[in-house]
Amino acid sequence: MKFPLARPRRLRASKIIRDAIAETWLDPGDFIYPIFVKPAGGREPIPSMPGQYRWPVGEELVRHVEESLSLGVNKVILFGVVPDEVKDAVGSPGYDPHGVVSRAIRLLKETFGDRLLVFADVCLCEYTDHGHCGVVRQKGGRWYVDNDETVKLYAREAVVYADAGADFVAPSGMMDGQVAEIRKALDAHGFHEVGIMAYSAKYASAFYGPFRVAAASAPKFGDRRTYQMDPRNAYEALKEVSMDLEEGADIVMVKPALAYLDVIRLVKTHYPWAPLAAYNVSGEYSMVKAAASQGYIDERIVTLEILTAIKRAGADVILTYHALDAARWLREGTPF
Ligand code: PBG
Repeated sequence: MKFPLARPRRLRASKIIRDAIAETWLDPGDFIYPIFVKPAGGREPIPSMPGQYRWPVGEELVRHVEESLSLGVNKVILFGVVPDEVKDAVGSPGYDPHGVVSRAIRLLKETFGDRLLVFADVCLCEYTDHGHCGVVRQKGGRWYVDNDETVKLYAREAVVYADAGADFVAPSGMMDGQVAEIRKALDAHGFHEVGIMAYSAKYASAFYGPFRVAAASAPKFGDRRTYQMDPRNAYEALKEVSMDLEEGADIVMVKPALAYLDVIRLVKTHYPWAPLAAYNVSGEYSMVKAAASQGYIDERIVTLEILTAIKRAGADVILTYHALDAARWLREGTPF
């Protein structure tokens, strides 16, 4: 017998055979498209995230979502951007029934109904004047975020978004017990059908930098390391995920995605029955955009390669700013 006996290259010889045996396929239905909404004015480009905008609640937003739907991207997650003047210490614009996210949810659900699934991020960093994700208190000359007070406000915010018509609420503040408290509040108000996508394993990551510019939500002092997870820990994600599932989360999430593919795989392996989302965050997006604009990488192939890798690692859905571009590129087939 002539060497070599086994020739894996036979299965790579043409696109047809590669496609026939490919394990992972991306589809526009895999994506949840994050959209920043603002109260009024015209659409505004986000300097830290080329290709992304802050959309005024109105006609321009509706047209953009129409485009998204026409590409097969039928899930969006909304983030509110409000002027500094209306922010306060307890983030009240976040649970104002007439706030920007509530208005956007109403408009989108009235316009698109069941054609569109609307997720609403539940957090307070976009609405507090200090930029932390909850109520800040002082003790012995040190500041801290008051967990239980904050969770009460998240529950209020979640009910407001559910009342506006959100299909899912997505608590992203990493406070202990937030999922249970939100589930209780939703049920108490009759919103049994509103789901919870929990940001379960959300790491304290510098990859959120461009988002914080977009949403003007950077903390004014300190950082988020007392509530978001330590990047050095993978197994701890299993603890967070198990707690969130027990508290009633319908979908769990790992965030960021690209530098945490091992965590995605770990969670999928241990909880194969739990729908798993991965957040391909702002910094991951903007790195690709920056490198592509310099001609260092092929944006189309790199983007599809990254998203495929996130799915291959075990994600069932991917929150990604690349959603519309990727959906457009996928129409031409895969580049692999
Ligand atoms: C709110 C929130 C953040 C992101 C999603 N929800 C920012 C943060 O935790 O600072 C980041 C998303 C991204 O970077 O794309 N807490």
